Amino acid sequence: MKLLLVFIFSLINSFRLSYGYDPLDPYANITVRWDFLQQSGSSSDIKVSIYNFQQFRHVDRPGWKLGWTWKGDEVIWDMWGAEAIEQGNCSKFKGSPDLPHCCKRKPVVIDLLPGAPFNKQYFNCCKGGELSSMIQDSSKFGSSFAMSVGSFAGKEIVMPINFTIGLPGYTCGMPFQVQPTKFSHDGRRWKQVLETGNVTCIYSLIRASPSPKCCASLSAFYSSTIVPCPKCSCGCQGLPGVKCVNRPGEESPPLLQLPHTHETEEPSPLVTCSRHMCPIRVHWNVKQSYKEYWRVKITISNYNFVKNYSYWTLVVQHPSLQSLTRLFSFNYHPLNQYGTINDTGMFWGIKYYNDLLLTRGKNGVVQTEMLLHKDAGTFTFREGWTFPRKISFNGDECVMPPPDEYPRLPNAAPSATASKRSIVVFVSLLILAAVF
Ligand SMILES: *[C@@H]1O[C@H](CO)[C@@H](O)[C@H](O)[C@H]1NC(C)=O
Ligand SMILES: *[C@@H]1O[C@H](CO)[C@@H](O)[C@H](O)[C@H]1NC(C)=O
Ligand SMILES: *[C@@H]1O[C@H](CO)[C@@H](O)[C@H](O)[C@H]1NC(C)=O
Ligand SMILES: *[C@@H]1O[C@H](CO)[C@@H](O)[C@H](O)[C@H]1NC(C)=O
Ligand SMILES: *[C@@H]1O[C@H](CO)[C@@H](O)[C@H](O)[C@H]1NC(C)=O
Ligand SMILES: *[C@@H]1O[C@H](CO)[C@@H](O)[C@H](O)[C@H]1NC(C)=O
Repeated sequence: MKLLLVFIFSLINSFRLSYGYDPLDPYANITVRWDFLQQSGSSSDIKVSIYNFQQFRHVDRPGWKLGWTWKGDEVIWDMWGAEAIEQGNCSKFKGSPDLPHCCKRKPVVIDLLPGAPFNKQYFNCCKGGELSSMIQDSSKFGSSFAMSVGSFAGKEIVMPINFTIGLPGYTCGMPFQVQPTKFSHDGRRWKQVLETGNVTCIYSLIRASPSPKCCASLSAFYSSTIVPCPKCSCGCQGLPGVKCVNRPGEESPPLLQLPHTHETEEPSPLVTCSRHMCPIRVHWNVKQSYKEYWRVKITISNYNFVKNYSYWTLVVQHPSLQSLTRLFSFNYHPLNQYGTINDTGMFWGIKYYNDLLLTRGKNGVVQTEMLLHKDAGTFTFREGWTFPRKISFNGDECVMPPPDEYPRLPNAAPSATASKRSIVVFVSLLILAAVF
């Protein structure tokens, strides 16, 4: 019966995901704040700040790329803490001693890399476009840059429109004016901003890449079966357009061009040939049972040859996470504790120890063990109860094996349960048909 519940639960979960909005992080957004620091005639000094107000979705390299459309003929004369990808056509300024930094009507701006020249830096800048999630690192979920903007025709500079953030799955709304902020660079003197506008960008799984990027495999101490990731979880070997390699160096060099750190496009994954073809596999091993506790080992493996995952996050849904007693070598934070689903939490790496999941071939594995309390009344090794209901890596849901393949307790009589199960599945289909 619990198996049925797991099944219905995972169905409900997949319905839930088909909405753009995530109940685990209902207010999730990336906010772009646009502050006019100084305005005189046809020139302005502007500070732009980007904040990742998301609990578990972070922004990985190659990072954000902020774009907008000027309403008039504005040009960016200079910039600190970021740079426009293209200068554009500045021929109108022929003859002036310095050309503007960017003359495009629709500029696209990227963050500077850490260690940028000192005179090009700006307060809280230069993170290579990376933003951690809010929970992970409160000092790294925001970034800012500054620019001086002028209008060729001598008009007043106004806030541009049509913002984009250059991250798959995100769309940005219209800018709206908010209460002007105050700011301080030293914590002693606070300056008042003349005018502030906010733009909110929201992530939607539907708009992001439709194919999964992660799968889960399962095992338990009481069974010799290791349930692998479902076949073709993320792609099928041999289908046209699907590439994979067995070992780096085995393929001809053009296929295995490793990306440069200066790259501004995310390299498409180049994965190890496997039956699941996912760049990431999460293995959940029910390792041991004690009198009052049980032990789980989680291993995350990187099958992607072209990506080191920095600031990775893992979100797991399991009723026993409410009684997580001890965790080794990962960080943990419960999510949505007071909401309708309070059995979910987020794991992430310990800084300088395992916060970077290296590429395949460079020990691309991070792992943890945890002790969970056996809560009376709910805990059982039966019917796959000890396996997670849902796992997502970096906000992308992992493909789980079907519940009827879960490792079974040795004493479960397969034939009897099989017929019982088919009745249960039939009944559950009837229930589902009635509900949806
Ligand atoms: C963006 O997220 C922050 C933090 O969760 C929240 O306070 C704010 O209301 C959100 N903004 C919108 C427009 O949803
Ligand atoms: C740049 O703009 C000027 C007009 O402002 C135009 O005459 C010229 O052809 C443009 N150059 C390019 C390379 O587009
Ligand atoms: C802004 O975006 C909208 C919708 O994509 C488009 O219709 C409009 O022309 C854009 N405005 C400018 C100035 O590019
Ligand atoms: C505007 O953005 C800032 C983030 O810098 C945020 O703190 C503030 O709540 C936002 N205001 C509104 C009304 O969304
Ligand atoms: C991943 O990190 C390792 C060690 O820091 C480095 O040698 C390697 O080039 C990186 N790979 C990619 C694809 O960035
Ligand atoms: C949330 O968790 C607590 C125990 O931590 C439990 O007592 C409560 O019933 C749970 N609430 C919901 C809505 O699941």
